[in-house]
Amino acid sequence: MTGRLDGKVALVTGAGSVGPGWGNGKAVAVLFAREGARVLAADIHADAAEETRGLIEGEGGECAVVSADVTDSSSVKAMVETCLERFGRIDVLHNNVGGSAPGDPVAMDEAVWDAQIALNLTSVFLTCKHVLPVMVEQGVGAIVNVSSLAGVRYFGRDNIAYTAAKAGLHKFTEQIAVKYAPQNIRANTVIAGLMHTPLVEARLMRQYGDGDRQAFLDERNALVPMGRMGDAWDVARAALFLASDEAGYVTGAQILVDGGITAKCN
Ligand SMILES: NC(=O)c1ccc[n+]([C@@H]2O[C@H](COP(=O)([O-])OP(=O)(O)OC[C@H]3O[C@@H](n4cnc5c(N)ncnc54)[C@H](O)[C@@H]3O)[C@@H](O)[C@H]2O)c1
Repeated sequence: MTGRLDGKVALVTGAGSVGPGWGNGKAVAVLFAREGARVLAADIHADAAEETRGLIEGEGGECAVVSADVTDSSSVKAMVETCLERFGRIDVLHNNVGGSAPGDPVAMDEAVWDAQIALNLTSVFLTCKHVLPVMVEQGVGAIVNVSSLAGVRYFGRDNIAYTAAKAGLHKFTEQIAVKYAPQNIRANTVIAGLMHTPLVEARLMRQYGDGDRQAFLDERNALVPMGRMGDAWDVARAALFLASDEAGYVTGAQILVDGGITAKCN
């Protein structure tokens, strides 16, 4: 099947990647473009988004880049204005930005808590704040939010702010889905499990591992009933479904992309 997003404009936040290879946002941006969307690749690191643009344009797709910090309202407003100036509409808002910091409530600094809530939850509030009026005006839109297994299950890692923010994101998304259903705007969540994206090597290993790369990867793989972590394309394919008209009657839903780990941790 091709052309599943033909004629649509997609705004993808965090469309770069923290390291070489395929991060979730990068894979989503490229897959959306392969399926016909014109993509605005937004990232706090413009060079990371430029790399994504290069990949999309190299395949004959259309992509523009904007440097934006999704934790900052004026930056988000400017990002939305850029999308409208460049493409004239926003059919899909894909909220990919997020990331975890370790710590329980005693160990975690208050500043880290605040930054985590800003990165994982306030960011989505801000993009919705500025994009929803556009979608209401258009009479159509699809929002896809990226969450984590941490928002639904405790599997042995203390990351209290990330857990709380991602759990909050689920309810936030549901309320948007209900409130904006009459305006033909859908809102759904992809809940990613343990994925082998560049951030595993770039950050998680340092935060949660003990320096033994293979042991860290083995431990993550072993937690999953399928015996392996997923990858960015697993997340991207679920997001594509939710962004496309094939999901026209799907809103307020959560798709687990986790190799069965949530079911195992019931
Ligand atoms: N990889 C995993 O194992 C895993 C598991 C569950 C959920 N997730 C979720 O996936 C999402 C991230 O996936 P990824 O692989 O694309 O991560 P990533 O860390 O590679 O981030 C993608 C991009 O986000 C950008 N970014 C960071 N802060 C930003 C900000 N304030 N404003 C704009 N851009 C910003 C970075 O520059 C980077 O290029 C997060 O929501 C995360 O919670 C990942």
